[in-house]
Amino acid sequence: MTDIQTSYPPSAEFAAVANGDAALYARAAADREAFWAEQANRLHWHEPWTQVLDWSGAPVAKWFVDGKLNVAYNCVDRHVLAGHGDQVAIHWEGEPGDSRDITYAELLAEVSRAANHLAALGLHAGDRVAIYMPMVPEAIVSMLACARLGLTHSVVFAAFSASALRSRIDDAQARLVITTDGQWRRGQAVSLKAAVDEALADGQASTVEHVLVVRRTGIETPWTDGRDQWWHETVAHASAEHVADAFDAEHPLYILYTSGTTGKPKGIVHTTGGYLTQAAYTHHYVFDHKPGQDVYWCTADIGWVTGHSYIVYGPLANRATEVVYEGTPNFPDEHRHWNIVEKYGVTVYYTAPTLVRTFMKWGREIPDAHDLSSIRLLGSVGEPINPEAWRWYREVIGAGAAPIVDTWWQTETGAIMMSPLPGVTAAKPGAAMKPLPGITAKVVDDKGVSVDPGETEANGYLVLDQPWPSMLRGIWGDPERFRETYWAMFADRGWYFAGDGAKVDADGDTWVLGRVDDVMNVSGHRISTAEVEHALVGHAGVAEAAVVGVSDETTGQAIAAFVILQSGVDYPSEQIVAELKATVSQEISPIAKPRDITVVPELPKTRSGKIMRRLLRDIAEGRTLGDTSTLVDPKVFDALRP
Ligand code: PRX
Repeated sequence: MTDIQTSYPPSAEFAAVANGDAALYARAAADREAFWAEQANRLHWHEPWTQVLDWSGAPVAKWFVDGKLNVAYNCVDRHVLAGHGDQVAIHWEGEPGDSRDITYAELLAEVSRAANHLAALGLHAGDRVAIYMPMVPEAIVSMLACARLGLTHSVVFAAFSASALRSRIDDAQARLVITTDGQWRRGQAVSLKAAVDEALADGQASTVEHVLVVRRTGIETPWTDGRDQWWHETVAHASAEHVADAFDAEHPLYILYTSGTTGKPKGIVHTTGGYLTQAAYTHHYVFDHKPGQDVYWCTADIGWVTGHSYIVYGPLANRATEVVYEGTPNFPDEHRHWNIVEKYGVTVYYTAPTLVRTFMKWGREIPDAHDLSSIRLLGSVGEPINPEAWRWYREVIGAGAAPIVDTWWQTETGAIMMSPLPGVTAAKPGAAMKPLPGITAKVVDDKGVSVDPGETEANGYLVLDQPWPSMLRGIWGDPERFRETYWAMFADRGWYFAGDGAKVDADGDTWVLGRVDDVMNVSGHRISTAEVEHALVGHAGVAEAAVVGVSDETTGQAIAAFVILQSGVDYPSEQIVAELKATVSQEISPIAKPRDITVVPELPKTRSGKIMRRLLRDIAEGRTLGDTSTLVDPKVFDALRP
């Protein structure tokens, strides 16, 4: 079913711009590099580039070679210099109901203070800083202050455990951790600084020299004199004047850890000029952004790439006015998001399918009780959106008129790669549609042959066959893994393999079907099976563990674990299951906690000793078993079946 989404009144002007010289797609196809150069000119460059793309070091690209810029200057200073200092950059809404409006001029002062303090701590361009914070304004200020000084930030999701934080600090050798005393969790102040202390305990993560702490909750906070500093006693007193230096277009802006197919998270590296170009370009066109008019709300957390590109860098580079919300959607009740939409007159709302399905479960009477007429555009990200949720989203939240942009991209791609353009191109419920102008992709079989449009049986692999400006430049400290993970599958062609399965329909539109590797997608969060297995076997009672992602009505996928206990362990399975869930929460994060844990006597393995996850998925989803002929012992299933 095609839905052209022409019933999108505000788009007439936009469609004219985008289509005017038939324009964007044709121009990009005719001369990709000239097109990207044009997009890069959305930014302020302290020094111009001499070459748009240098792909001679493939698979590591250089974009805008020799160009110099400052990301924070682009996101903040230049808007103030252009006379927009009084425009609100951030409408911040705290979980307990407190709020702050921060103008661009105020943001500039805060970022400058933070930059002055970080410089006074002796940090230099190229040093790494870990940011472990809830959704408070200082988190964004910290990211921008790092960017301003050329410090490479590594944001660690505040729901991650102390050990996850420690391994990320160690991997990046961070010199500073910025955190808060605690965070609000459904009305309770929960400590966060304590997890930092645990990560650094006994001389671990020893590269860290200082911990800078924002007071958010007032909760009692353990303190190490000499190492720990309060933000309000340091940053707040620093000078609000700071002159931004320019950095090379390929200077590393940030590292963001994401799950791969092994237990060790990968530090995805993004650089400066190409990244900001594509973040700004996509935010501008995909959300049809109108600076000074739109009130934009991306509901992600800064702990994920969506928060980096579509809360911090893309929108601020485009002088957005945006909502940033600290809490959960059902605190103090399920009306929270819609109260916020009404309060600020949100025009663009960008969220994940799992949240849409949660809203559906809560019932349409909740959003129906609010005036959501300010919303003109809706976005979806993180996983394929099921057509039912797509239709509900458009009908109930978008009053049947707001187009939905279903945006396909990844931590590695840095910015949106595929999406309809609102009012310009067609959309279908559940399809990512086509690559954006300037981006190319293919759906191919394992030999690299393009899958025919309309071929419903043979699902293919989604590959990106040309470099793009915001592409990852590597895995921090592991160039070999970078090549193997993304470039080995189609090495002879130089294509990037995204890890997603996809198909192309008869109209030539792309449907992303989900991961084809051992990566699960729970509520849009990437979690590797190996990482959860590793945490499970870390429990003294467990001999072996196998983890699979299974369908879940709300979260897309849920985690199902099968464990074999050590011989001699014979305590009740409810007890061990509870302990194991706690272990995974503790070791990784509550989001990685398995929904189901089944204690089993054996696991299905091939003769080469590989666990047959496909069969475990069949069991976990109650399906008839697939082909078991390669199993060593097909009888193992008699014991596995519930
Ligand atoms: O499987 C795809 C899915 O999320 C993966 C990327 O996850 P992450 O790096 O955590 O980034 C999430 C936010 C960009 C992809 O490999 N995915 C993301 N967006 C979509 C999607 N699958 C289908 N449709 C989407 N719109």
